[in-house]
Amino acid sequence: MKLDVLLGLQWGDEGKGKVVDFLTPKYDVIARFQGGPNAGHTLEFNNIKHVLHTIPSGIFHPGKINIIGNGVVIDPVIFAREIEGLSKHQVQFDHLLISRKAHLILPTHRILDAASEAAKGKSKIGSTLKGIGPTYMDKTGRNGLRVGDLFAPDFADRYQALLQKHLSLLRQYDFQFDYKEEERAWMQAVETLRKFRVVNSEYELNALLQQGQKVLAEGAQGTLLDIDFGSYPFVTSSNTVCAGACTGLGVAPSRIGQVFGIVKAYCTRVGSGPFPTELNDATGEELRAKGHEFGATTGRPRRCGWLDLVALKYSVMINGVTSMIMTKPDVLSGFDTLKVCVAYRVNGVETQEIPFDVHAEIEPVYREFKGWSEDITYCKDYSQLPVELRNYVDFIESFVEVPFTVISVSPNREHTIVRG
Ligand code: GDP
Ligand code: IMO
Ligand code: MG
Repeated sequence: MKLDVLLGLQWGDEGKGKVVDFLTPKYDVIARFQGGPNAGHTLEFNNIKHVLHTIPSGIFHPGKINIIGNGVVIDPVIFAREIEGLSKHQVQFDHLLISRKAHLILPTHRILDAASEAAKGKSKIGSTLKGIGPTYMDKTGRNGLRVGDLFAPDFADRYQALLQKHLSLLRQYDFQFDYKEEERAWMQAVETLRKFRVVNSEYELNALLQQGQKVLAEGAQGTLLDIDFGSYPFVTSSNTVCAGACTGLGVAPSRIGQVFGIVKAYCTRVGSGPFPTELNDATGEELRAKGHEFGATTGRPRRCGWLDLVALKYSVMINGVTSMIMTKPDVLSGFDTLKVCVAYRVNGVETQEIPFDVHAEIEPVYREFKGWSEDITYCKDYSQLPVELRNYVDFIESFVEVPFTVISVSPNREHTIVRG
């Protein structure tokens, strides 16, 4: 059996959580392959809103296997808090599997993240301060601690060794911190984590695929935040692209089936870095207000702007997207005119490529579309959507040469239109 991959094609927060939850009934297994609690995936049903950070978005469907893959980094404190929150909603965890090879975020990783950001001053990344960068640095630097290490007899010594390394690094920063209290909470949370089904998830997953089980790999962040292909250095520290599903779960490239790219009908970005179509005006404010564009993890206001097709086409190319899923077109209801960026003008020259230099002055070349005013939230069928929205969809499809198969029209699980 092939494994399908679902990921964000912009700068994160495209609505991956909602769509994974919607698609879960079609799958047997949902597996997160990268990122950590920098992610905030929002799901809404039965008038309740849930935000997941570490746990895959299939968790609300009883009987479905949810896997936290080796590519994920786990903060035991955030994980334990998530478990506690979900337990209040009678969520069962007997089908939740955690990779032995997933790396652990230590309290000092979080402090290092904060110290590094403070030292960067105006050129900070605008990280979520969850310790993501320092944890992946320890992973690639071959210093990290993994979930499987929690069961090793010398775990305490290994923790101490890494702690000392971090403390010595922290001395290089002019940064005040106290890790003792956080360490106590962390040690307690580690006990919670130890009680879960910690497995060699690459074996489990490949066996499930071999048995013909249907697997959906859930991405976090977005393609333009990828460590290799995003607007470096204003990116996260993992491979958010489709290839990350192979390394983050232990599946062969030949196993990849459908690649679903989630596209917000406009663009948002949290943190620093280039955003050519950003609107620092009343229209941007309107998008933020109507779209409730505030971070699910940090609460920060998201930067808002028009849809960027140069960037989208790039994401489609890097990921081999086979179909796209649009979210939040309902937020665009009421705008007289919509714009989409169809080219960049850099130093007076028009281009379809994202410049290497993140400081390049990019002037977006726009194409305008007539808006619509109808509330589309209760539309059940594609044909019920306003013709102006269908024109918008058609144009994007023809520009990036990939179809939209699903259109989401509200945060709610129920309000999702499957095309054809
Ligand atoms: P993720 O990180 O990609 O899972 O996305 P987030 O959960 O961070 O942000 C997406 C936000 O948009 C959440 O508040 C969702 O509840 C909401 N959302 C998802 N799909 C839609 C949609 O079609 N319409 C509207 N209005 N909101 C949506
Ligand atoms: P989901 O999965 C939006 C951004 C941060 C910052 C940069 C690096 O909910 O889409 P990090 O903490 O990873 O070192 O921050 O990446 N970022 C996200 N933006 N959605 C996310 O996740 C993000 N995860 C990280 O704002 O600019
Ligand atoms: Mg999010």
